[in-house]
Amino acid sequence: MPEIKPECSQASGPQKIFSWPYHRYMSMYRHSLEDPESFWATEARKLNWAQQWEKVLEWQPPYARWFVGGKINASYQCLDRHVKTWRRSKVAIYWEGENGETRTLSYSTLFREVNQCADVLLKLGVKKGDIVALYLPMITELPVFMLACARIGAVHTVVFSGLSAQSLGDRVNDCKAKVVVTADGGYRRGKIFKLKQTADITVNSCPSVEKILVVKRTGEDVPMVEGRDYWYSDLIDEDVHYVAPEAFEATHPLYILYTSGTTGKPKGVVHSTGGYLVFNHSTFKWIFDIREDSVFWCTADIGWVTGHSYAVYGPLSHGAAIVLYEGSPDYPTIDRWWDIIEKYSVNIFYTSPTAIRMFMKYGEEYPARHNLSSLELLASVGEPISAEAWCWYYKHIGQEKCPIVDTWWQTETGGFMIAPSPGIEPMPLKPGSATLPLPGIDVAILDAEGNELGTNQKGYLVIKKPWPGMLMDIYGDSELYKKNYWSRFKGVYYPGDYAMRDEDGYFWLYGRADEVLKVAGHRIGTAEIESSVAELDEVTEAAVASRPDEVKGEAIVLFISLKTGYKPSDDLKKAIVGHIRKNIGPIAAPDEIYFVQSLPKTRSGKIMRRVLKAVASNQGLGDLSTIEDQESVTEVKKAYEALKGCTRD
Ligand code: WT7
Repeated sequence: MPEIKPECSQASGPQKIFSWPYHRYMSMYRHSLEDPESFWATEARKLNWAQQWEKVLEWQPPYARWFVGGKINASYQCLDRHVKTWRRSKVAIYWEGENGETRTLSYSTLFREVNQCADVLLKLGVKKGDIVALYLPMITELPVFMLACARIGAVHTVVFSGLSAQSLGDRVNDCKAKVVVTADGGYRRGKIFKLKQTADITVNSCPSVEKILVVKRTGEDVPMVEGRDYWYSDLIDEDVHYVAPEAFEATHPLYILYTSGTTGKPKGVVHSTGGYLVFNHSTFKWIFDIREDSVFWCTADIGWVTGHSYAVYGPLSHGAAIVLYEGSPDYPTIDRWWDIIEKYSVNIFYTSPTAIRMFMKYGEEYPARHNLSSLELLASVGEPISAEAWCWYYKHIGQEKCPIVDTWWQTETGGFMIAPSPGIEPMPLKPGSATLPLPGIDVAILDAEGNELGTNQKGYLVIKKPWPGMLMDIYGDSELYKKNYWSRFKGVYYPGDYAMRDEDGYFWLYGRADEVLKVAGHRIGTAEIESSVAELDEVTEAAVASRPDEVKGEAIVLFISLKTGYKPSDDLKKAIVGHIRKNIGPIAAPDEIYFVQSLPKTRSGKIMRRVLKAVASNQGLGDLSTIEDQESVTEVKKAYEALKGCTRD
């Protein structure tokens, strides 16, 4: 484990606490950049391929195809491999229901369930390349269906169960899913949410959907349409123990996962099978330094990429034991998570800064009630973690003996990009820094013109070489793929984040540089909310900004101009919030609504987002010296003054 001496007493941010170099990490890093193909080939050999690749990388910018000619099966990698060894009796999943129900699945049980599920999918006519949408709560059937899809070459697209019917419909229609898998319901904060009913609203407007499979979770009655809807349990054949896993091309898509960007609709990020698995397997080991006896808990919902990569594929491909928790972190009591850590003796715990901030607010007495001494390593993801939150996590959860690995990555990168790697070499940490790039990840920081910046200069993070976990495309929209990631700076991948590299080479991530918000760690495009609100009859135009929020990181602030004849009112506010919840989901609901005469715009008609942000966050306009044209500065100031006085109700 890394040596760590961060001084948290003052929680004061960066401190110089070590000196270079780290021999093991450095030599691995150097080799990975000098000869990426041989480096990644060595990593790839750690997996079980049904057929060896002919070419490690086919790089036709901006498309990378890894391990071309190779064949592999993701479910074989996560299951068959283990059940051939003593691991068949090892715990794969400790599942904890919100209501206190539990299930413990060994690798052999999980293997049997995945095979039976694959058999059900085949019986329904699902074939290689078909898309299956999984709209499920955090129950064991979710990983089972993912692995069953992978087993037969179907492409899964998991839709977070907190998203609305319309969000589900947009995704299903975009990728033309053939089958939707859902549940009668799920539990959240003790209440049942009716997933099947929500799915029904959607499916009626989704012509591609032929079948709906319903998993029993709550036991409530749900409407079933004859010939289209099936109870999953009715189709399971208990006599089935094995469905042969077919080997698929490394470049066959493993899954599509929708994420928000700068356009009005989420985009389908397509991940490969071979490259993704290689990157996933190696990065999981480097960062979490997993041992055979580790109990690993990633708290992310499987509906997001963190859950895909590090609650399912990463740990299972290593034969690790994972915890899967169904419900809310603070339900029915505030110490529910700490109780789970104690109950299952969790060693490695992976969560988000927003959760940490929430528990900080509740107070340290809740973790203090539990024996958390099993913990060895803590990790964070989703947004920048402040030195203050880092230190609270370090002290009150890790009890000053666990390193904290802050992991920077994205849905598109498939796996960790910048993070400390205890599994390669212990390295000191600085509260708030994601530290160093992983082997194979060639990063730089650029100014707005694309010139490389030096030490301690804040700029745009870019990645200069392809890596095996890199997305293959945006589903059905190659133009958007090129525009989004490859057009801002020539020849390099642009993630959309601000960053800085300090004098020790450590990276500090400062959040999004584009019109994307991070609300409680969720990625939400301002354009998505704006286009949803614009559908309302009363609204002329809407724009979204954010303000800092103690727990959520960012809170959504909506600016709206109304059509003549409509007046601001509490009812209208409620209707707007209700519309967004229904259209996108509760995570996109605004915290504040400002009704304005008109939105501040430049002469060319662009919304002055700087002005909106300044008003929303009540922080003033900041540095205007980067605006060259004096006239614009005056305009910005004028717009700011005008808007500051506007009504909030
Ligand atoms: C965006 C990606 C990666 C899984 C969860 C989120 C921000 C993510 C960090 C971090 C600072 C971070 C970035 C990134 N982000 N991790 N450790 N420090 N910022 O995946 O929804 O695709 O969001 O989250 O802004 O671009 P995602």
